[in-house]
Amino acid sequence: MIYVIIMSMRIDRLLCEMNIGSRSQVKELLKKGLVTVNGTVIKKADTNVNEHSDVIICEGRRYMYQPFVYYMMNKPAGILSATRDAHQRTVLDLLSEELKKQNQGDLTGIPVKDIFPVGRLDKDTVGLLLLTNDGELAHRLLSPKKHVAKKYYVKTDCPIGEKAADLFAGGIDIGEGQLTKPAVLERLGSREFNLTITEGRFHQVKRMFQAVGASVIYLKRISMGGLILDETLPEGHIRELSKEEVLLLC
Ligand code: URA
Repeated sequence: MIYVIIMSMRIDRLLCEMNIGSRSQVKELLKKGLVTVNGTVIKKADTNVNEHSDVIICEGRRYMYQPFVYYMMNKPAGILSATRDAHQRTVLDLLSEELKKQNQGDLTGIPVKDIFPVGRLDKDTVGLLLLTNDGELAHRLLSPKKHVAKKYYVKTDCPIGEKAADLFAGGIDIGEGQLTKPAVLERLGSREFNLTITEGRFHQVKRMFQAVGASVIYLKRISMGGLILDETLPEGHIRELSKEEVLLLC
């Protein structure tokens, strides 16, 4: 038996997903005869089109359908938070391997090279890493003006003083002249903490602990904005975000 998968969606939905306009703006464009599919003017909003093969031109401009994808990775240690590297394995290498295993590469239709990690974790840091092709969302999450909270679980080589929480809350000098923004330290044990910061300076968590006399020996990101690491996701594994999880980031 031969199965044929037909990929199609309504033209109005497709144009909305491609950010051409709101539902009503898209309807207007269609009504005015400004949209062609394979050379034919399409006016009916409920016309089904093949988003992967049809040639869609709107107001004289060709649009390629590229849906956004969002993946959660539980980053393992030893992998670079980069798209590519000549010598070392990157999170994108890991994503490619995982998608191949899950046989998803072709289904999403998104070239892995268009996907990138949102921000960086150090090579030895583990935990939550968001991977997407949505540049606007990434920009919003990383913008220093947005103060998106990032929570880390930290183990140190020695206990730190009682005053550390107050020092972190007030901003601390990590050698850049400008103090860090207020951060929240929760003590979980004598050498175990959760730290929430709203910036993304280079080696920030490690340098903050260094400033109060301890070295970080284990660092794991557990949340970013409203997105929380799925603790059932083993290290090195990746899964797509649910719709609800994507909305938590918007
Ligand atoms: N702060 C660090 O020091 N390292 C990371 O990977 C993330 C935050």
